[in-house]
Amino acid sequence: MVKITVVGSISTDFVIETDKRPQVGETVEGKNFSTAFGGKGANQAVAAARLGADVFMIGTVGNDTFAEELQRNLKENQIFLNNVERVTHLPSGSAVITIQDGDNAIIYIPGANNALTPERIAMAREDLKTSDLVVVQNEVPVDAIEELVRVCTEMQVPVLYNPAPARRLSAEAIEKVRFITPNETEFSVLFPGEKMEEVLERYPNKLLVTAGSEGVYYHDGEKVKLVPANKVVPVDTTGAGDTFNGAFAVAWSNGLTIEESIRFGNLAASLSIQKMGAQTGIPTIDEMKGSEKYEKEWHLK
Ligand code: RIB
Repeated sequence: MVKITVVGSISTDFVIETDKRPQVGETVEGKNFSTAFGGKGANQAVAAARLGADVFMIGTVGNDTFAEELQRNLKENQIFLNNVERVTHLPSGSAVITIQDGDNAIIYIPGANNALTPERIAMAREDLKTSDLVVVQNEVPVDAIEELVRVCTEMQVPVLYNPAPARRLSAEAIEKVRFITPNETEFSVLFPGEKMEEVLERYPNKLLVTAGSEGVYYHDGEKVKLVPANKVVPVDTTGAGDTFNGAFAVAWSNGLTIEESIRFGNLAASLSIQKMGAQTGIPTIDEMKGSEKYEKEWHLK
Protein backbone atom coordinates (compact mmCIF):
# COMPACT_ATOMS: atom_id res chain seq x y z
CA MET A 1 0.00 0.00 0.00
CA VAL A 2 1.21 3.51 -0.71
CA LYS A 3 1.22 6.15 2.04
CA ILE A 4 -0.33 9.53 1.27
CA THR A 5 -0.46 12.41 3.73
CA VAL A 6 -3.12 15.03 3.10
CA VAL A 7 -2.66 18.43 4.73
CA GLY A 8 -5.79 20.52 4.63
CA SER A 9 -9.29 21.54 5.54
CA ILE A 10 -11.91 19.47 7.31
CA SER A 11 -15.37 21.09 7.13
CA THR A 12 -19.12 20.64 7.24
CA ASP A 13 -21.00 21.54 4.05
CA PHE A 14 -24.44 23.20 4.33
CA VAL A 15 -25.99 22.40 0.97
CA ILE A 16 -28.95 24.19 -0.64
CA GLU A 17 -30.48 22.87 -3.87
CA THR A 18 -32.30 25.54 -5.82
CA ASP A 19 -33.65 26.30 -9.30
CA LYS A 20 -32.72 29.97 -8.92
CA ARG A 21 -30.04 31.86 -7.00
CA PRO A 22 -31.31 35.08 -5.34
CA GLN A 23 -30.18 38.54 -6.44
CA VAL A 24 -29.25 41.03 -3.68
CA GLY A 25 -32.46 41.91 -1.79
CA GLU A 26 -34.41 39.01 -3.32
CA THR A 27 -35.87 35.93 -1.60
CA VAL A 28 -36.35 32.72 -3.56
CA GLU A 29 -37.76 29.35 -2.52
CA GLY A 30 -35.18 26.55 -2.50
CA LYS A 31 -35.78 22.84 -3.17
CA ASN A 32 -33.79 21.09 -0.46
CA PHE A 33 -31.32 21.56 2.38
CA SER A 34 -28.84 19.02 3.73
CA THR A 35 -25.54 18.82 5.58
CA ALA A 36 -22.62 16.78 4.27
CA PHE A 37 -18.99 16.09 5.08
CA GLY A 38 -16.62 18.31 3.12
CA GLY A 39 -13.52 20.45 3.15
CA LYS A 40 -11.19 20.09 0.20
CA GLY A 41 -8.53 18.40 2.35
CA ALA A 42 -10.93 15.88 3.87
CA ASN A 43 -12.49 15.16 0.45
CA GLN A 44 -9.06 14.43 -1.05
CA ALA A 45 -8.13 12.24 1.93
CA VAL A 46 -11.38 10.25 1.62
CA ALA A 47 -10.80 9.78 -2.12
CA ALA A 48 -7.26 8.50 -1.58
CA ALA A 49 -8.35 6.17 1.24
CA ARG A 50 -11.33 4.70 -0.66
CA LEU A 51 -9.00 4.04 -3.59
CA GLY A 52 -6.68 1.97 -1.47
CA ALA A 53 -3.95 4.22 -0.01
CA ASP A 54 -2.91 4.44 3.63
CA VAL A 55 -3.95 8.02 4.35
CA PHE A 56 -2.70 10.28 7.14
CA MET A 57 -4.40 13.64 7.64
CA ILE A 58 -2.89 16.81 9.10
CA GLY A 59 -5.43 19.49 10.03
CA THR A 60 -7.34 21.29 12.75
CA VAL A 61 -10.99 21.16 13.83
CA GLY A 62 -12.86 23.11 16.50
CA ASN A 63 -14.01 22.06 19.92
CA ASP A 64 -17.67 21.76 18.89
CA THR A 65 -20.05 18.92 18.07
CA PHE A 66 -19.30 19.31 14.34
CA ALA A 67 -15.69 18.36 15.12
CA GLU A 68 -16.78 15.04 16.65
CA GLU A 69 -18.74 14.15 13.52
CA LEU A 70 -15.96 15.30 11.21
CA GLN A 71 -13.41 13.14 13.02
CA ARG A 72 -15.77 10.16 13.18
CA ASN A 73 -16.35 10.37 9.41
CA LEU A 74 -12.61 10.41 8.67
CA LYS A 75 -12.06 7.43 10.99
CA GLU A 76 -14.85 5.52 9.27
CA ASN A 77 -12.98 6.11 6.01
CA GLN A 78 -9.86 4.50 7.57
CA ILE A 79 -7.92 7.78 7.73
CA PHE A 80 -5.27 8.16 10.47
CA LEU A 81 -5.97 11.20 12.63
CA ASN A 82 -3.01 11.45 15.01
CA ASN A 83 -2.11 14.81 13.44
CA VAL A 84 -5.65 16.23 13.51
CA GLU A 85 -5.90 18.59 16.45
CA ARG A 86 -8.92 20.12 18.16
CA VAL A 87 -8.53 23.84 18.85
CA THR A 88 -10.71 25.65 21.36
CA HIS A 89 -10.82 29.21 20.07
CA LEU A 90 -12.47 28.72 16.66
CA PRO A 91 -15.54 26.89 15.30
CA SER A 92 -14.95 23.95 12.95
CA GLY A 93 -14.69 24.84 9.26
CA SER A 94 -17.84 25.11 7.16
CA ALA A 95 -19.05 25.90 3.66
CA VAL A 96 -22.39 27.11 2.33
CA ILE A 97 -23.02 25.53 -1.07
CA THR A 98 -25.81 26.25 -3.52
CA ILE A 99 -26.46 23.68 -6.24
CA GLN A 100 -28.29 24.73 -9.38
CA ASP A 101 -28.55 22.43 -12.43
CA GLY A 102 -25.82 20.17 -11.00
CA ASP A 103 -23.27 23.00 -10.65
CA ASN A 104 -22.17 24.55 -7.39
CA ALA A 105 -21.27 27.94 -5.89
CA ILE A 106 -19.45 27.89 -2.55
CA ILE A 107 -18.78 30.28 0.34
CA TYR A 108 -16.08 28.76 2.53
CA ILE A 109 -15.60 29.79 6.18
CA PRO A 110 -12.21 28.47 7.36
CA GLY A 111 -12.82 28.64 11.14
CA ALA A 112 -10.53 26.13 12.84
CA ASN A 113 -8.84 25.26 9.53
CA ASN A 114 -7.03 28.58 9.91
CA ALA A 115 -5.37 27.33 13.10
CA LEU A 116 -3.01 25.10 11.11
CA THR A 117 0.35 26.73 11.82
CA PRO A 118 3.89 26.10 10.51
CA GLU A 119 4.69 24.75 14.01
CA ARG A 120 2.03 22.04 13.65
CA ILE A 121 3.52 21.09 10.28
CA ALA A 122 6.96 20.80 11.85
CA MET A 123 5.50 18.54 14.56
CA ALA A 124 4.25 16.11 11.90
CA ARG A 125 7.68 15.80 10.29
CA GLU A 126 8.09 12.08 10.97
CA ASP A 127 4.78 11.21 9.27
CA LEU A 128 5.60 13.44 6.32
CA LYS A 129 9.03 11.86 5.93
CA THR A 130 7.64 8.37 5.27
CA SER A 131 4.96 9.49 2.78
CA ASP A 132 5.07 8.52 -0.89
CA LEU A 133 3.29 11.78 -1.69
CA VAL A 134 1.96 14.75 0.31
CA VAL A 135 -1.17 16.53 -0.93
CA VAL A 136 -2.17 20.08 0.07
CA GLN A 137 -4.70 22.69 -1.06
CA ASN A 138 -5.45 26.34 -0.23
CA GLU A 139 -8.08 26.08 2.51
CA VAL A 140 -5.35 26.34 5.18
CA PRO A 141 -3.02 29.32 5.87
CA VAL A 142 -0.36 30.12 3.31
CA ASP A 143 2.49 30.13 5.87
CA ALA A 144 1.64 26.53 6.80
CA ILE A 145 1.68 25.53 3.11
CA GLU A 146 5.02 27.23 2.53
CA GLU A 147 6.52 25.52 5.60
CA LEU A 148 5.12 22.19 4.38
CA VAL A 149 6.75 22.63 0.97
CA ARG A 150 10.02 23.63 2.62
CA VAL A 151 10.08 20.66 5.01
CA CYS A 152 9.06 18.14 2.33
CA THR A 153 11.65 19.48 -0.13
CA GLU A 154 14.33 19.11 2.53
CA MET A 155 13.27 15.48 3.10
CA GLN A 156 12.84 14.85 -0.66
CA VAL A 157 9.17 13.98 -0.28
CA PRO A 158 7.10 14.98 -3.36
CA VAL A 159 4.22 17.43 -2.87
CA LEU A 160 1.07 17.75 -4.96
CA TYR A 161 -0.23 21.32 -4.56
CA ASN A 162 -3.87 21.85 -5.52
CA PRO A 163 -4.25 25.68 -5.50
CA ALA A 164 -7.95 25.69 -4.65
CA PRO A 165 -9.57 28.05 -3.88
CA ALA A 166 -7.55 30.52 -5.97
CA ARG A 167 -4.77 32.34 -4.12
CA ARG A 168 -1.15 33.28 -4.87
CA LEU A 169 1.74 31.26 -3.45
CA SER A 170 5.44 32.23 -3.45
CA ALA A 171 7.26 31.51 -6.72
CA GLU A 172 9.82 29.56 -4.69
CA ALA A 173 7.20 27.14 -3.36
CA ILE A 174 5.71 26.71 -6.85
CA GLU A 175 9.13 25.75 -8.18
CA LYS A 176 9.62 23.16 -5.43
CA VAL A 177 6.38 21.18 -5.62
CA ARG A 178 6.16 18.02 -7.77
CA PHE A 179 2.68 18.73 -9.15
CA ILE A 180 0.41 21.80 -9.36
CA THR A 181 -3.23 21.13 -10.26
CA PRO A 182 -5.21 24.36 -10.76
CA ASN A 183 -8.51 24.62 -12.58
CA GLU A 184 -8.72 27.35 -15.23
CA THR A 185 -9.75 30.11 -12.76
CA GLU A 186 -7.00 29.18 -10.34
CA PHE A 187 -4.52 29.03 -13.22
CA SER A 188 -5.25 32.68 -14.10
CA VAL A 189 -4.68 33.77 -10.49
CA LEU A 190 -1.39 31.88 -10.22
CA PHE A 191 -0.12 32.96 -13.64
CA PRO A 192 -1.90 36.27 -14.38
CA GLY A 193 -1.88 37.37 -18.01
CA GLU A 194 0.04 34.31 -19.18
CA LYS A 195 -1.02 31.95 -21.96
CA MET A 196 -1.86 28.48 -20.71
CA GLU A 197 0.07 26.74 -23.45
CA GLU A 198 3.28 28.63 -22.61
CA VAL A 199 3.04 27.95 -18.88
CA LEU A 200 2.29 24.27 -19.49
CA GLU A 201 5.43 24.09 -21.61
CA ARG A 202 7.44 25.75 -18.80
CA TYR A 203 6.29 23.06 -16.33
CA PRO A 204 6.22 19.81 -18.31
CA ASN A 205 4.85 16.76 -16.45
CA LYS A 206 4.21 19.01 -13.44
CA LEU A 207 1.40 21.45 -14.19
CA LEU A 208 -1.99 19.78 -14.72
CA VAL A 209 -4.82 22.18 -15.55
CA THR A 210 -8.23 20.67 -14.84
CA ALA A 211 -10.86 21.96 -17.24
CA GLY A 212 -14.08 20.39 -15.91
CA SER A 213 -16.06 18.45 -18.50
CA GLU A 214 -13.29 19.01 -21.10
CA GLY A 215 -10.63 17.08 -19.20
CA VAL A 216 -7.08 17.80 -18.04
CA TYR A 217 -4.31 19.67 -19.92
CA TYR A 218 -0.60 18.99 -19.33
CA HIS A 219 2.67 19.07 -21.29
CA ASP A 220 4.35 15.69 -21.67
CA GLY A 221 7.80 17.09 -22.53
CA GLU A 222 7.03 17.19 -26.25
CA LYS A 223 3.62 18.75 -26.60
CA VAL A 224 0.49 19.92 -24.78
CA LYS A 225 -2.02 17.10 -24.33
CA LEU A 226 -5.68 17.06 -23.34
CA VAL A 227 -6.73 13.93 -21.48
CA PRO A 228 -10.50 14.02 -22.03
CA ALA A 229 -12.97 13.74 -19.15
CA ASN A 230 -15.53 10.92 -19.11
CA LYS A 231 -18.87 12.27 -20.29
CA VAL A 232 -21.59 11.84 -17.68
CA VAL A 233 -24.65 13.82 -16.62
CA PRO A 234 -23.72 15.41 -13.28
CA VAL A 235 -26.02 15.38 -10.26
CA ASP A 236 -23.62 17.46 -8.13
CA THR A 237 -20.11 18.52 -9.18
CA THR A 238 -19.06 19.49 -5.62
CA GLY A 239 -15.78 17.80 -4.80
CA ALA A 240 -15.06 16.58 -8.35
CA GLY A 241 -11.68 18.34 -8.34
CA ASP A 242 -10.88 16.93 -4.90
CA THR A 243 -11.72 13.41 -6.05
CA PHE A 244 -9.51 13.90 -9.11
CA ASN A 245 -6.59 15.05 -6.93
CA GLY A 246 -6.96 12.21 -4.39
CA ALA A 247 -7.27 9.61 -7.14
CA PHE A 248 -4.40 11.03 -9.21
CA ALA A 249 -2.24 10.94 -6.05
CA VAL A 250 -3.03 7.25 -5.48
CA ALA A 251 -2.37 6.26 -9.08
CA TRP A 252 0.90 8.18 -9.43
CA SER A 253 2.20 6.93 -6.06
CA ASN A 254 1.49 3.41 -7.30
CA GLY A 255 3.83 3.94 -10.24
CA LEU A 256 1.28 4.65 -12.99
CA THR A 257 2.43 7.15 -15.62
CA ILE A 258 1.18 10.73 -15.45
CA GLU A 259 -1.23 10.17 -18.30
CA GLU A 260 -2.57 6.93 -16.78
CA SER A 261 -2.89 8.69 -13.43
CA ILE A 262 -4.92 11.48 -15.06
CA ARG A 263 -7.24 8.92 -16.67
CA PHE A 264 -7.60 7.18 -13.29
CA GLY A 265 -8.41 10.56 -11.69
CA ASN A 266 -10.87 11.44 -14.45
CA LEU A 267 -12.72 8.15 -13.98
CA ALA A 268 -12.96 8.64 -10.20
CA ALA A 269 -14.19 12.24 -10.66
CA SER A 270 -16.84 11.20 -13.21
CA LEU A 271 -18.20 8.58 -10.80
CA SER A 272 -18.18 11.03 -7.87
CA ILE A 273 -20.41 13.62 -9.55
CA GLN A 274 -23.25 11.19 -10.05
CA LYS A 275 -24.38 11.53 -6.41
CA MET A 276 -25.22 14.51 -4.16
CA GLY A 277 -22.57 15.62 -1.63
CA ALA A 278 -18.83 16.12 -1.90
CA GLN A 279 -17.91 12.73 -0.42
CA THR A 280 -20.99 10.55 -0.98
CA GLY A 281 -20.15 9.74 -4.59
CA ILE A 282 -16.39 9.25 -4.17
CA PRO A 283 -15.89 5.70 -5.45
CA THR A 284 -14.17 2.83 -3.69
CA ILE A 285 -11.54 0.92 -5.61
CA ASP A 286 -14.08 -1.90 -6.15
CA GLU A 287 -16.56 0.58 -7.66
CA MET A 288 -13.79 1.82 -9.94
CA LYS A 289 -12.99 -1.75 -11.00
CA GLY A 290 -16.69 -2.30 -11.71
CA SER A 291 -16.65 0.47 -14.33
CA GLU A 292 -16.24 -0.45 -17.99
CA LYS A 293 -13.71 2.42 -18.20
CA TYR A 294 -11.35 0.82 -15.65
CA GLU A 295 -8.16 -0.23 -17.46
CA LYS A 296 -6.70 -3.68 -16.72
CA GLU A 297 -3.15 -2.21 -16.88
CA TRP A 298 -3.85 -0.15 -13.74
CA HIS A 299 -2.13 -2.32 -11.13
CA LEU A 300 -2.13 -0.87 -7.62
CA LYS A 301 0.20 -2.15 -4.88
O1 RIB B 1 -14.20 21.24 -3.25
C1 RIB B 1 -15.42 21.13 -2.59
C2 RIB B 1 -15.30 21.57 -1.15
O2 RIB B 1 -14.92 22.91 -1.10
C3 RIB B 1 -16.57 21.43 -0.38
O3 RIB B 1 -16.70 20.17 0.25
C4 RIB B 1 -16.52 22.57 0.60
O4 RIB B 1 -16.17 22.20 1.90
C5 RIB B 1 -15.56 23.57 -0.04
O5 RIB B 1 -14.74 24.21 0.79
